[in-house]
Order: sequence, then C-alpha cells, then structure tokens
Amino acid sequence: MNMQEDLGKKKKHHNLTIREMEIDDFPAVFHLGEKLFRAQRVPNLYRTWDEFEVISLYQGDPELCLVAEVDERIVGFVLGSTISKSHSAWKYGHLVWLGVEAAFQRKNIATKLFNRLRDLMLENGVRMLLVDTEADDMAALRFFQKVGFGNPEKHIYMTLNLAAQLGIKKNNAREQTRRQHKNRA
Ligand SMILES: CC(C)(COP(=O)(O)OP(=O)(O)OC[C@H]1O[C@@H](n2cnc3c(N)ncnc32)[C@H](O)[C@@H]1OP(=O)(O)O)[C@@H](O)C(=O)NCCC(=O)NCCS
Repeated sequence: MNMQEDLGKKKKHHNLTIREMEIDDFPAVFHLGEKLFRAQRVPNLYRTWDEFEVISLYQGDPELCLVAEVDERIVGFVLGSTISKSHSAWKYGHLVWLGVEAAFQRKNIATKLFNRLRDLMLENGVRMLLVDTEADDMAALRFFQKVGFGNPEKHIYMTLNLAAQLGIKKNNAREQTRRQHKNRA
C-alpha cells in the first residue's frame, strides 16, 4: 500500500512515500542499515545487522517490512515481526530495526514509518508493541518516547569468556605434561 506525504512545512519539501518493502529493495535497505548500525557499537549481541536479517524478517512478516522513499530513493525503513506466546492471549509486535538516512533525519520520516507499522500491527491483532535499544542511544530513546513507548525495563547482559577458560585449561595441561616429563627425567 502506498502513501504519499509531505515532509512538513518547516522542513525541506520532498515527496515521501511509505510502502511495503520488496525484494528489489533488499540491497538499498541492507546498505543503509550498514551505514546506520555499523557506525554505532554493535546494537547488541543477539541480533546483528546483516543481509540475512533483512531476508529473514521479510520471510517472516513481509507486510511488516516498510520502506520510506523520497524521489524514488530509499531513505528509511522499519522491519517488524509478531510474536505469539503460548500462555498469553496477547499477540506481541516487535519493532526490530528502524533507520533513517542521516541527511533525512528529524523530518518525521521515522514517525511516519512507525505510525504505518503500528496500524498494520493493530490490523494483525497485535495488542502490545516491544522495542529494545541501547540505554545510551539518546536519539532512539527520545524517538521511542515521543511515539508513545514507556515503562523502560533494564536488561543486563553478562558475558562468560569461554576462550579465556579454554586458555587456562590448555596452560594447566601443558604444565602437567611438563611436570610429568621432569619427574621421569
Ligand atoms: C532514531 C531514528 C530512526 C529517528 O529517525 P528520524 O526520522 O530522525 O525521527 P523523526 O524525525 O520522526 O523524529 C521524531 C521525534 O523523535 C525525537 N528524535 C529523533 N531524533 C532525535 C535526536 N537525534 N535527538 C533527540 N531527539 C530525537 C524528537 O522528539 C523528534 O521530534 P522533533 O524533530 O519534532 O524534535 C534515526 O535517528 C536513526 O536512524 N538512528 C540510527 C538507527 C537507530 O538508532 N535506530 C533505532 C533502533 S533500531
């Protein structure tokens, strides 16, 4: 579904179209995401921006993958998915990736992408939307607050360095062999 819009009077005047992503858009979306997400720290470890991310989200819920086009050029996208939990009557919507090209930011493009996604989620029976972002990503946080997200819950990531443990074990084994050789001599 296409939606032609203005980018607002106080801001530069462009023709904006919000439409469903198509297979031919994959390269443009992927490269825009690379610029936006690789420039930051890795957003988090359980999801990484790569070409498979675009393809698999599209395979899962193609109608929840939208692009923003200005003069036939892709300048933004939002990729979402839905989650049904076994013991919950609610269907959840997950806004997985959202990005707008730097030169086109602060022109309400993300807001328009989000509004369209939210309407589609509602039509899909979704009653709760989820999003996750880095605690220090002020642009994303302000944006999500402005469009209505609240109740931020802290989530802590911990790491266990298996490689380091493996290194210690190898060193212990080497030390044991060295001692055995020494005792035999
Ligand atoms: C976050 C992002 C998608 C916002 O896109 P955008 O098109 O610039 O957003 P909008 O113009 O619709 O902004 C709407 C409101 O959000 C807030 N906002 C957006 N960007 C902001 C920024 N850099 N700093 C502070 N507030 C910001 C403002 O309240 C803004 O309203 P205003 O311009 O009237 O003040 C964009 O900055 C981006 O692509 N960032 C990199 C990728 C990313 O972090 N994605 C989110 C997690 S997947």
